[in-house]
Amino acid sequence: MNAINNSAVPARCLPLLNTIMDALRSDGYVVVDDALPAALSRALQQRILAIKNTGDLKVAGIGRRDDHTIARSIRQDSIQWMNRSDASESGWLTAMEHLRGYANRELLLGLFEYESHFAHYPPGAGYKKHYDAFKGQSNRVLSTVYYLNDNWQPGDGGELAIYDAEEDQLITQVQPVLNRLVIFLSEEFPHEVLPAKNHRYSIAGWFRVNNSRDLLSLQA
Ligand code: OGA
Ligand code: MN
Repeated sequence: MNAINNSAVPARCLPLLNTIMDALRSDGYVVVDDALPAALSRALQQRILAIKNTGDLKVAGIGRRDDHTIARSIRQDSIQWMNRSDASESGWLTAMEHLRGYANRELLLGLFEYESHFAHYPPGAGYKKHYDAFKGQSNRVLSTVYYLNDNWQPGDGGELAIYDAEEDQLITQVQPVLNRLVIFLSEEFPHEVLPAKNHRYSIAGWFRVNNSRDLLSLQA
């Protein structure tokens, strides 16, 4: 399981991947600028704008059985899950495959699959402080957030605030600027999206481990 085909990771990605692994090892989180080729970050930006303009983004929920009234008081973004039917999404998912393979090799995380969605936070929208996974319960292990906003200014709000789990102290606030990638251990960091004052576009994603114990799930 989790056999890694190292030849699939282009050599030019290795310095960045090594930086990411070192930071995850020492801090549990990392903020990376210029994470993807500029053309791919542009294509992803164009893609979410196109999806938004066709009205295909859906109000986001929280968990499997959503009470949408509760969900709306916690988060106000609209989302669309990604797949490989579009070239930009395919490029994104391939980059995340490289990250998954390298993290499994270097950090032995046993990451099994990855899911991600585009998100649009209209002015006024945010996402209250939360964990992406709860200790011992969830199979979300590593979270990613990637930003798609040109010319984001300090006054535009919409920062990702990351807190320390033990002390609940603010560790850092991240501006959601184009081609910036944030990666953190899902069980270790409560975080929130401060209310945006401008349209805020992003991709949120999670690497999961496989918790299924039945024999058929080995085929997955
Ligand atoms: C999430 C999330 C952070 C961000 O979608 O779970 O925490 O900066 N997003 O968009
Ligand atoms: Mn989150």
